Amino acid sequence: MTAQNIYILGIESSCDDTAAAVLHSGKILSNVVATQEVHQKYGGVVPELASRAHQQNIVPVIHEALSRAGITKEDLTAVAFTRGPGLMGSLLVGTSFAKSLSLGLKIPLLDINHMQAHILAHFIDEKDFKKPKFPFLALTISGGHTQIVKVTDYFQMEVIGETLDDAVGEAFDKSAKILGLPYPGGPLVDKNAQKGDPKAFPFPKPKVEGLNFSFSGLKTSILYFIQKQVKQNPQFIEENLEDICASIQHTIIGILMDKLKKAVKQTGITEIAIAGGVSANSGIRNTLHEAQAKYGWKTYIPKFEYTTDNAAMIAIAGHYKFISEDFADLGVTAKARIKM
Ligand code: KG4
Ligand code: ZN
Repeated sequence: MTAQNIYILGIESSCDDTAAAVLHSGKILSNVVATQEVHQKYGGVVPELASRAHQQNIVPVIHEALSRAGITKEDLTAVAFTRGPGLMGSLLVGTSFAKSLSLGLKIPLLDINHMQAHILAHFIDEKDFKKPKFPFLALTISGGHTQIVKVTDYFQMEVIGETLDDAVGEAFDKSAKILGLPYPGGPLVDKNAQKGDPKAFPFPKPKVEGLNFSFSGLKTSILYFIQKQVKQNPQFIEENLEDICASIQHTIIGILMDKLKKAVKQTGITEIAIAGGVSANSGIRNTLHEAQAKYGWKTYIPKFEYTTDNAAMIAIAGHYKFISEDFADLGVTAKARIKM
């Protein structure tokens, strides 16, 4: 098999998105995501409902991915799936499906670490997108993780800083909940922030040693601030929503950038990539873009559809595992917690 003719099916089911993608030798042919809306009315992901929805979605989503790619399952070279980290019940659906497919089609199975895949999304062949050069620093920001990772090769990644409590996505979602915005609130905070004044309401930044982060204090100070203001003016949120969102987002970006600058100083690495659901945030994307001229960094901002959970990133990670013949055997099991 030449590297020119590999068809990899990627399957992602770690949280509340059921996704499948087909990658042909580094290029995406299809990238299908079914986002589960069932969780909205609960204000967060309900694990049991997520795993049931994955079971309902997985066959049609894979079917659609193959059909949009213009291939059949017999054309597949290998199947890659998210082994973890994530919700156990959700991971099991994708894992079992991938194992059955590998067994039935007699093709190699590739187990993928979801957080590594968020980073490797930068290696998908896309017009006008350059790939980072090793070594680089990845700021991985999602609903479950906040990490600074030193990436020396495709699967050589070292976490050099991480959150001690909430992830940055949780900080966005919990702040949004305080403001009465529906789940997931991150994109709504972003949307409102674009029209607001980022300096309207200053929130304190946490003092955390080294390259680690903390976001739980910010959520508490936002809660107290809002409660106090609403007591004086019950319309406070409605009247100031855009300024509040802009101020929250500005504070979060400040926290992330302070640590990123510190990591650059400590490692001497100026190639910086952002990854994960929160890298969809327009404020973060703009700030990273500006950092090129401001600090002389080379920054990599993923294509929008490869930021939040998707299977294209699982497929590209699978591509590199396939090339190095790093296959999983059928005894592989899902793992809710896995290290980089
Ligand atoms: O990577 P992801 O899709 O799932 C996890 O692996 O967690 O990340 C989801 C997180 C959620 O917290 C969501 O609110 C946040 O990414 N998010 C955003 C934006 N788009 C998604 N946060 C801020 N601004 C956005 N535009
Ligand atoms: Zn993710």
